[in-house]
Amino acid sequence: MKRYLNFGVLLFIICCKGFGQGNNYVQNYNKFEGLALTPPMGWNSWNRFACNVDENMIREMADAMVATGLKDAGYTYINIDDCWHGDRDSLGFIHPDAKRFPSGIKALSDYIHARGLKLGIYSDAGSQTCGGRPGSRGYEFQDAMTYASWGIDYLKYDWCNTDGLKAEGAYKTITAALRRAGRPIVLSICEWGNDKPWTWGQKVGHLWRTTGDIYDCFDCIKDNGSWKAWGVMQILDMQEGLRNYAGPGHWNDPDMLEVGNGGLTVNENRAHFSMWAMLAAPLIAGNDLRNMRPETKEILTNKEVIAINQDPLGIQGFRHLRKDSLEIWMKPLEKNDWAICFLNRSHSTRQLKFDWQKEVVIDSLSNRVLKAAENNYKIRDLWLKKEAGDTKKVTDISIPGHDVIMYRLTRM
Ligand code: GLA
Repeated sequence: MKRYLNFGVLLFIICCKGFGQGNNYVQNYNKFEGLALTPPMGWNSWNRFACNVDENMIREMADAMVATGLKDAGYTYINIDDCWHGDRDSLGFIHPDAKRFPSGIKALSDYIHARGLKLGIYSDAGSQTCGGRPGSRGYEFQDAMTYASWGIDYLKYDWCNTDGLKAEGAYKTITAALRRAGRPIVLSICEWGNDKPWTWGQKVGHLWRTTGDIYDCFDCIKDNGSWKAWGVMQILDMQEGLRNYAGPGHWNDPDMLEVGNGGLTVNENRAHFSMWAMLAAPLIAGNDLRNMRPETKEILTNKEVIAINQDPLGIQGFRHLRKDSLEIWMKPLEKNDWAICFLNRSHSTRQLKFDWQKEVVIDSLSNRVLKAAENNYKIRDLWLKKEAGDTKKVTDISIPGHDVIMYRLTRM
């Protein structure tokens, strides 16, 4: 009897080791793959509306995204930024502000999905969001489950009030929570580039902010005392040295677009949009889609410029030449095509003669060479939407102040 008893105890111990205390649980800190093979495109409430968000406005924005042709041009995400939150309940579950979102977020996501769009939401790794709403610190897994149950598709995760937290660990925690919750959700790391997210973000999230907040001006710095916001040109300059970190599924994010928000002229809007396309940046519109000027709509829906941004190779463009306030940017594209963008940062019109035959462009990152003396390319002007000769002839252009001329070169 005693022998059988000992055998039983032994069997129990083996079982426990194998299936219980042996710990089969492996945490997955890797993002969902395959969700952002090209830079995400959508709309976000912050740049235009700040904390002034509610469900009617979000629904109207989704309708406008369809009605204005933005959806057809590739925009998919409707992202609610800060200040949608109400309180946590007695169990810690987060609820939306009942006055602003009386029907709840699930109803909103059903509405958005019914239009073939996707819904994004916002939280913060710290105790409170930047707008002072409840943050996810200590509630990461609970919040991720809630977002999944609401049908959320995209999470922008901010970095205010994070004293004592380590960025990489904090973002890994929310990634693990999203994995556990099981719904594929794009993770937008919004840590402003403080802890070099490009060096650790590739497996953790799908995009990472490289800078502080954008400001609605072309070339200025807005000093808010304890922090600064940056004009379009300032943000462009801060992208230096980052292009080798971006690629399909993981993008440098120079912040959301200010196109159409009033601080930029038409030329500047065009230059801003073109440069974000060249950078393979996420194209997240930040204007009121319900009341767009025709010029704004034309810029945001220029499919040939969007195709430069969405090129499947996902190679971020680079500055090839800089002379005074004139810059020439290049971006290798599929099928040996190239995008080239002439950017005039000065106020006055600049003349340029560009002799393709004398030019050799080498991109050591993608191992691509543009040598028009050996291969002729057809030139297409992406803003005038017409053919502009080929690379046998010297291109003689005049670029208005704060504007661009943007071409696609196709091998003949
Ligand atoms: C930070 C982010 C912004 C925006 C606000 C919301 O400043 O960088 O993009 O989300 O918070 O409060």
